[in-house]
Amino acid sequence: MRIAMIGSGYVGLVSGACLADFGHEVVCIDKDPAKIAALEEGRMPIYEPGLDALVAENVRQGRLTFSTDLRPAVARAQAVFIAVGTPSRRGDGFADLSYVYAAAREIAEALTGPTVVVTKSTVPVGTGDEVERILREARPDLEVGVASNPEFLREGAAIGDFKRPDRIVIGAEDARTAAVMQDVYRPLYLNQAPILLTGRRTAELTKYAANAFLATKITFINEIADLCEQVGANVQEVARGIGLDNRIGGKFLHAGPGYGGSCFPKDTLALVRTAQEHGTPVRIVETVVAVNDQRKRAMARKVITACGGSVRGKRVALLGLTFKPNTDDMRDAPSLSIIAGLQDAGAEIVAYDPEGMEQARPLLDGVAYAEDAYACAEGADALVIVTEWNAFRALDLARLKGLMRAPVLVDLRNVYASGEAERHGFAYSGVGVA
Ligand SMILES: NC(=O)c1ccc[n+]([C@@H]2O[C@H](COP(=O)([O-])OP(=O)(O)OC[C@H]3O[C@@H](n4cnc5c(N)ncnc54)[C@H](O)[C@@H]3O)[C@@H](O)[C@H]2O)c1
Repeated sequence: MRIAMIGSGYVGLVSGACLADFGHEVVCIDKDPAKIAALEEGRMPIYEPGLDALVAENVRQGRLTFSTDLRPAVARAQAVFIAVGTPSRRGDGFADLSYVYAAAREIAEALTGPTVVVTKSTVPVGTGDEVERILREARPDLEVGVASNPEFLREGAAIGDFKRPDRIVIGAEDARTAAVMQDVYRPLYLNQAPILLTGRRTAELTKYAANAFLATKITFINEIADLCEQVGANVQEVARGIGLDNRIGGKFLHAGPGYGGSCFPKDTLALVRTAQEHGTPVRIVETVVAVNDQRKRAMARKVITACGGSVRGKRVALLGLTFKPNTDDMRDAPSLSIIAGLQDAGAEIVAYDPEGMEQARPLLDGVAYAEDAYACAEGADALVIVTEWNAFRALDLARLKGLMRAPVLVDLRNVYASGEAERHGFAYSGVGVA
């Protein structure tokens, strides 16, 4: 099939490369000329494990190309995917759909025949109806189907998630559109990936419900962690004790500094706003949003407490800046709130992240960057593990202690056991561990 992918960010680029790998002919389009120029030179605009090799192979096979001009690709395409950003709208938290609608208008102008337009961006219920209205109004002459196909990939494991998904959700309102979508995913049908074929509005809402549920699970265990600290219990063991119950499941039960990233914060908020707008508030999700916001700020206070009540004039070393390991994505990363809180309290910040420092620099003022974890710890009054990169899982604690001014370890991901850190002479605080 011939596919045009509008938007070549995390989702568009990974989806485009994987669809090309299935054998489709894919053009990844982006309005950012620097991104397209980098891709044409074989440089990846994002860090995602395995993506460079996958892109290179499909470019070599002639199935994957890049362009800033959507017209020729859309004119030839049997399916046009919209994978542009849907950030929080400033001020009110609704999803900002201006990029989606702008893409729909550009697509409408470029269409030449019957095509299916697929929204892969995460969009509120009813967006597909509006995309369809835009297309029909601009091109009453054409038969255009509009599908919803939300994406569930995780950054850091995106290629595996796209190629071996837990499920594929397709929302379509007519048989022809559904048939085209089934052709897109035929290689996965052969692998018997579960496919939910449903209505467009149901597909749109499924994505928000999934993210809100996962955010709720994280927030739930974070509150249990706080209680564990007060009553002398261990949250990791509580999480294991409940997670072994198949009805609950062990995933997303790792206590930490609160969820961040490019999806959960904006998607939970957008769901809250959509529900309020329809007069059916989702109170649990409203609470999750509030609790998580407070938590990110509370993490700075946790570091200050570990430092004896003040960080004024102290050097605090942070390991990990990205919202999770194996990505360079800094969007809504908890590190941003933690650093702001520590700087407000007078701390001097030095940080190290294996992949995220380039993305972090424009977002952070007054932060010094180190070349590795040990250089980061040098002369520090406290070391804070913010993101659980593998490179931080087996650090030489004796060497770290020797480099630091004060042996304070705040482990916001529970990477180390308290006993192990204490044996090396650290004053240790984890999350939800007494
Ligand atoms: N990042 C994730 O892990 C993830 C996972 C699932 C779903 N999603 C959803 O997928 C969507 C895209 O997210 P992302 O993280 O890939 O965003 P992104 O910001 O990384 O990429 C979006 C890209 O679209 C481009 N763009 C915007 N308007 C365009 C236009 N008219 N023509 C061509 N290009 C255009 C931008 O230049 C940018 O490169 C969002 O709705 C997001 O919620 C993201």
